[in-house]
Amino acid sequence: PQSVRIACLKFRGLSAIVAREEQVSKPDETGSESCSSRRTFIKVQEERQQQAKHTVLISCPPKINEKKFLKYLSQHGTINTHFFYESFGTHAVVEFSKLDSVESLFSRASIPVIKEDCVVPFKSRLFTIKSTTSFEQAANQKPVGCQKQSTIPINELIAKLSSAENIEEQLFCLVDEYQLTEENTRLRFLVSSLINDVVSAYFPESTVKPFGSTVNSFGKLGCDLDLFLDLDDIRKSAIGKLPGPFSVEFQMKRVSSGRVATQNILSVIGECIDNFGPGCVGVQKILNARCPLVRFSHQPAGFQCDLTANNRIAMRSSELLYIYGNLDSRVRALVFSVRCWARVHGITSSIPGAWISNFSLTMMVLFFLQKRTPPIIPSLNHLKDLADAEDVHIIDDNDCTFVSDINKIKASKNTETLGVLLSEFFEFYGNFAFNKNMINIRTGKEQNKPEPSPLYIQNPFESILNVSKNVNQTQLERFVALARDIFPTSTSALRSPQEAAAAGAAPDAREGSERGVSDPCWAQVLDGDSEASPYLRPRAATAEKIAKPFDALRP
Ligand code: CTP
Ligand code: MG
Repeated sequence: PQSVRIACLKFRGLSAIVAREEQVSKPDETGSESCSSRRTFIKVQEERQQQAKHTVLISCPPKINEKKFLKYLSQHGTINTHFFYESFGTHAVVEFSKLDSVESLFSRASIPVIKEDCVVPFKSRLFTIKSTTSFEQAANQKPVGCQKQSTIPINELIAKLSSAENIEEQLFCLVDEYQLTEENTRLRFLVSSLINDVVSAYFPESTVKPFGSTVNSFGKLGCDLDLFLDLDDIRKSAIGKLPGPFSVEFQMKRVSSGRVATQNILSVIGECIDNFGPGCVGVQKILNARCPLVRFSHQPAGFQCDLTANNRIAMRSSELLYIYGNLDSRVRALVFSVRCWARVHGITSSIPGAWISNFSLTMMVLFFLQKRTPPIIPSLNHLKDLADAEDVHIIDDNDCTFVSDINKIKASKNTETLGVLLSEFFEFYGNFAFNKNMINIRTGKEQNKPEPSPLYIQNPFESILNVSKNVNQTQLERFVALARDIFPTSTSALRSPQEAAAAGAAPDAREGSERGVSDPCWAQVLDGDSEASPYLRPRAATAEKIAKPFDALRP
């Protein structure tokens, strides 16, 4: 493949990197938080859910006059925010400040009259707005500005990355381009809230909540929308018995197991989504899976949705990943880069199969970061030790306890650069004893595998489950071969020539380093600011090799 190099290797000081880190860790779209605010996961989720309840989705003509559109809708009440996007036509997401406004809009909207077809009169917060102005007037109108809802093509990404100054910038640029935007996150919570409306026709106290990569801080534009139907809130809604000689309980249908109850509920909800859910198409009920689900596309939003029920453990693992993703800006940068690399090489796929999943890859990155000296992120057991009484969660006998307040977790003393970490990641897994050991983020230590699955990643909360049970030997071997291919001499390459020689590195690695040093730009690095050189020297010395993962991004 044509080499994509860091275009200019000039040193502009650490400030560029620091600025980047600040930018990436601002309170943002994906639920990633700055150090100063760092709200808990639950708080972020609740706020988003409330926001979504006040929000409507409107299909509109592409050349709508934005000012007139907002003025028209403002008759129902104050609009907090709005944006437009494209998915099977132009759509607007409009958030009102009060719930009354949504009700007002409901009361003014009419039921469509379609000549040949009949409509199912299920009213939802998905509307169509039509222009009553003349055709000529509309033709003169400019199309509204739309927010992007998908990632840029890989070639454009590579072009952007190649103009970055250094490896850090490349990785943070990747995160910037790929992470969920504020608007996309709002749209995800809105779809969740729309599905909640369908479900609450039967179960008014239940809630539908997004989980997985939508909320765990590792979501990429275009990723699926994992939804969880939380029926537990029904139990919580009972306020307690009246005093006296009697007690009253509901008569309810009995079934043989919780799994059967989940399957029955999802089956009916799947039918409702299929028959009544505006915009929901391609509904599939996959009820015999280990975790039964209803899969469908929400066409106006452009999301593939997986609705599960009785899946509270997955919600806890989403929170755990959110915590790890917000602890140190290197975590998300590394996870996004490794996932991107894996996707382009067909190590991961959007089609289910014997491939490594994004979730497994994330676990592998987290484990690797736990294994650094000193560790960049703590083990799950350490997070459990920091938990207080309200963090205790036992779900189906599984201990899902860990600290929810990120501020209680000490920052890592590890100062390794992303260039070093990326390289070491490939080296670590290029040499990992997969045949004998499993990956376990609970302990942060390799342990013997309990059974011979090619790749064994212990589920952090259900210790008898292997997250990557689906992965076959061939797929694991491809991963290992590609990892080895990237940095055959990575460790030595990351050292200065003197360090590399002292460590007995292969001559080719030293050659690579020397080439870097003789480059006029490198000379500037080394001469320019020797104070910063503990960081910069290794990076400078190996920039060519470090740029290589992004050569490798080309499909
Ligand atoms: N999950 C799990 N065990 C698995 C697979 C999934 O516990 N073997 C849980 C994880 O919490 C995961 C969530 O289900 O985050 C959703 O699964 P999936 O959509 O496969 O992964 P995501 O993390 O959402 O990543 P992607 O962006 O690929 O959708
Ligand atoms: Mg997902």
